[in-house]
Amino acid sequence: MNAYPALAVRGATKRFGAVLALDDVDLEVHHGEVLAILGDNGAGKSTLIKCISGVHKLDSGEIEVDGVPASMASPAVARAAGIETVYQDLALFDNLDATANFFAGHEKAVPAWLPRGMRWMRRRDMARSSSELLDRLKIRLPEKASTVGMMSGGQRQAIAVARTAAFASRVVILDEPTAALGLRESRQVLDLVLRLRSEGCAVIVISHAMDHVMEIADRAIVMRRGRTVGEEVPTPENRARLVSLIVGGEV
Ligand SMILES: Nc1ncnc2c1ncn2[C@@H]1O[C@H](COP(=O)(O)OP(=O)(O)OP(=O)(O)O)[C@@H](O)[C@H]1O
Ligand SMILES: [Mg+2]
Repeated sequence: MNAYPALAVRGATKRFGAVLALDDVDLEVHHGEVLAILGDNGAGKSTLIKCISGVHKLDSGEIEVDGVPASMASPAVARAAGIETVYQDLALFDNLDATANFFAGHEKAVPAWLPRGMRWMRRRDMARSSSELLDRLKIRLPEKASTVGMMSGGQRQAIAVARTAAFASRVVILDEPTAALGLRESRQVLDLVLRLRSEGCAVIVISHAMDHVMEIADRAIVMRRGRTVGEEVPTPENRARLVSLIVGGEV
């Protein structure tokens, strides 16, 4: 059992010009825990996870991974610290196929010093492991060799989620992972989250889908206008309270 949270954020503050997107936000998520971040459009959820994953820099505040202070200077730094993220505005490369997207950002899987012939073999390994994983997750793609730009929103999302699962180490962050998905695909993603949790991953899920949150999350924090306004265990009894925290009404 790990004494430290897998991820801790303290006093996170971030401005975009006149907009105070994050205002002194604290967050902790432990190994083997699923934390949901709830909140209306523009509450600051995506900004928070982009600061954690090195896309944006915090104006002030601290981030710790397993108790060790970390400056998330870039997405590569965050990934090296064991944080894998699926962004809401899916960061896939349209001109690449599923396999290449799978390994993007993990290119060191194919060492540049390998002779060309060997690199081709590594590429075949990558194709096999990505296709095994997609099969395991029961994700069906039209044609595995086709470029991602020609796939549907749901297919793209499925690839992005499968990719984080493949490289997950400490923390997996999913920003609206089921928003573009059909029923069957949503089910696969929810099962994947539960599997990551059982493997000791800390999972952060941003979602507007209350039913999904109640099924998979151990804890939910609610953000409004850049601040954390409450925290609840997402149960049917707490649903009304969570909704009122989200919209800002009185309970
Ligand atoms: N790159 C940016 N430049 C300027 N303003 C931004 C940027 N990203 C976000 N914002 C602003 O910061 C605030 C928080 O946005 P954010 O995307 O974090 O909200 P969110 O909670 O993820 O909303 P949604 O549920 O719609 O995805 C909004 O007012 C938004 O307009
Ligand atoms: Mg968002």
